[in-house]
Amino acid sequence: MKFYIETYGCQMNIADSELVSSILMEAGHQLVSNIDEAELIIFNTCSVREHAENRVLGRIATEKYRKTINPELKIAVIGCMAQRMGKRLIENYGIDYIVGVDKYLELPELIQQEKGVKTETDNLQTYTGIMPLHQSQTCAYVTIMRGCNNFCSYCIVPYVRGRERSLPAELILEEVKRCGEMGLKDITLLGQNVNSYSYQDINFPKLLRQLNDIDSIYRIRFITSHPKDLSDELIEVMAESSKICEHIHLPLQSGDNDILAAMNRNYTIEHYLNIVDKLRKAIPDMAITTDIMTGFPGESETAFNHTLQAMQEIQFDYAFCFKYSSRENTKAAYLPDQVPEEIRLERLKRMVNLQRQISLKKYEAKIGSEVEVYVESMSKKSAHQVSGKTRDFKIAVLDGTEQDIGTLKKGIVTGSTGNTLQCVNRS
Ligand code: 5AD
Ligand code: SF4
Repeated sequence: MKFYIETYGCQMNIADSELVSSILMEAGHQLVSNIDEAELIIFNTCSVREHAENRVLGRIATEKYRKTINPELKIAVIGCMAQRMGKRLIENYGIDYIVGVDKYLELPELIQQEKGVKTETDNLQTYTGIMPLHQSQTCAYVTIMRGCNNFCSYCIVPYVRGRERSLPAELILEEVKRCGEMGLKDITLLGQNVNSYSYQDINFPKLLRQLNDIDSIYRIRFITSHPKDLSDELIEVMAESSKICEHIHLPLQSGDNDILAAMNRNYTIEHYLNIVDKLRKAIPDMAITTDIMTGFPGESETAFNHTLQAMQEIQFDYAFCFKYSSRENTKAAYLPDQVPEEIRLERLKRMVNLQRQISLKKYEAKIGSEVEVYVESMSKKSAHQVSGKTRDFKIAVLDGTEQDIGTLKKGIVTGSTGNTLQCVNRS
């Protein structure tokens, strides 16, 4: 069967789509990049916010016309939404196959049937032994753990992705080495809470030390870290390891202690500020990015202002800003004082505006400095320029050709737009 896969949501879903592609290809199916050629269309979905779900449902509605032209065409929904909605998707949206996050190995068998649903959870499933089909020519996502035990009160993830489980360290090391040998020199380790990685006697800092010794790769990043679990040992390893980039993604969520407590985040703003301080002292030029939310139930204007103050104080390089979205069965969905939609929206705008100004300043501060760019592609704007990322996770463009893709180049920053650094080459 020719299958086409469309991915929504986080990097974990991108990695899962690579996993699913590999599972299907091993079973003899063929991945196509043009939806018109597909005999099976797979939507890998996200449930984290209602908006993400509505987008996929809209896409499914748009693509369903293909079934009237080609009655043989099959549509599958996999990922978090498949897990959350299960059979309801078949009944209400006419999907052929629904496959949850722990059942991807059963996809080849399922698609032999007319229709089917597989959404049982399996808290032991780690998909060890399957080598994902990495889609990028330069960078790789490598899953090191699956699931989450934190139960932040707004979050659907622990319900759909089940309990935390870490992949065997030796397999992670092998996979990273393999990626490097294939030319994927920039590795991002993935897990809902990478800081709680634990396999036999190997914790996350130990894993990082071992990965740092792999010759075939240039760079290591990891997402996502949880402020409650970020240890001094990790900061030490980051400071000491040449391949670990000077960047951390550390979701703050809120700058107000009462809201943080209601979110079940298990840290205070003071704890967060202390980590930021330690990171910046240990690692000069450390870039910090974050996720922040507004409109959590009970968030007063004062509480919201605490978040803005925290953003001002911390000066994030970038922040993914969200407005709270109520998720069925999570604790927060049943809290009193839900914030009206128009207030959530208005606060989100203020948050995004503030972050835009801060990011602009952060990028401008780079002008004049030397950066190392890992080239990922040709620039979209110029045939003589290439685009890549600095070690601190900023997009940068400099002069170059196709041959530079997958290599490191040095540049001096000459200009910034607030989301891209313009550089001149330095040999
Ligand atoms: N509403 C809005 N944002 C959410 N996130 C998680 N759950 C929700 C929700 N119910 C955000 C958090 C998380 C990021 C991946 O998505 O900020 O860090
Ligand atoms: Fe959701 Fe919190 Fe787990 Fe992140 S740490 S996936 S926000 S429950």
